[in-house]
Amino acid sequence: MQLQLATWQEVEGYLKSSTAIMIPIGSTEQHGPNGFIGTDALCPEVLAKAVGEETGALVAPTLSIGMAQHHLGFSGSITLRPTTLIAVVQDVVNSLAQHGFDRFYFLNGHGGNIATLSAAFSEIYAESSLGKADSNRPPLVCQLRNWWDGGGIKRLSAELFGDKEGSHATCSEISLTYYAYPDHVKQAEMTPGKAPVGPIYDSSDYRRRFPDGRIGSDPTHASVEAGERIFKTAVEEIAGDWRRFAANGASDA
Ligand code: NI
Repeated sequence: MQLQLATWQEVEGYLKSSTAIMIPIGSTEQHGPNGFIGTDALCPEVLAKAVGEETGALVAPTLSIGMAQHHLGFSGSITLRPTTLIAVVQDVVNSLAQHGFDRFYFLNGHGGNIATLSAAFSEIYAESSLGKADSNRPPLVCQLRNWWDGGGIKRLSAELFGDKEGSHATCSEISLTYYAYPDHVKQAEMTPGKAPVGPIYDSSDYRRRFPDGRIGSDPTHASVEAGERIFKTAVEEIAGDWRRFAANGASDA
């Protein structure tokens, strides 16, 4: 069930059987010459929607803007500061906790969110530990799950793309968005075929090191067909992980 398409009475009914909610979180940032700027938000969004249909999970609206300061050298990229994203995550969790939700499963699509999300969870727990949380807020469990972290997805990506996969504007994430939005598939020439690798600092440095935005990937190998296989494998893995988390607060992540 999608929160945005539910009524408040339906959410109240859901809470009688589950206090867990799935929250897709991503980013709005360049993904090289043939990847959508929304890639990191669209991937967890389409997967969460499918997992919600399969498992009955309640799925919150996607948090589509993340911590992407290093991409600001490319047109269209948007970032929240780490401190802003921490505040957004705290407010979302605390809002839902007011209604009785106590298990929060963040399905993440952006590596750059990981450190900030972990810090946000620590802030949320600190509110409880320091006695600053509202008195009607239950004890909370927050879980971060990257959609690409399952063993099946890693094996499939390696089988499909080998060393062309890379770490930003990956063949897998671009394939998944092409499967979800086949009318928007892009064609682009890329030189070199496989992008450089290296560390990430600020946006000017990033643009110098990675001139077309990719890191380590050759996403000319991305395809709708590969995206379909990735979608099915990811939905199966995430659905299993969600069921364990919703039942007892334990995740594979
Ligand atoms: Ni990405």
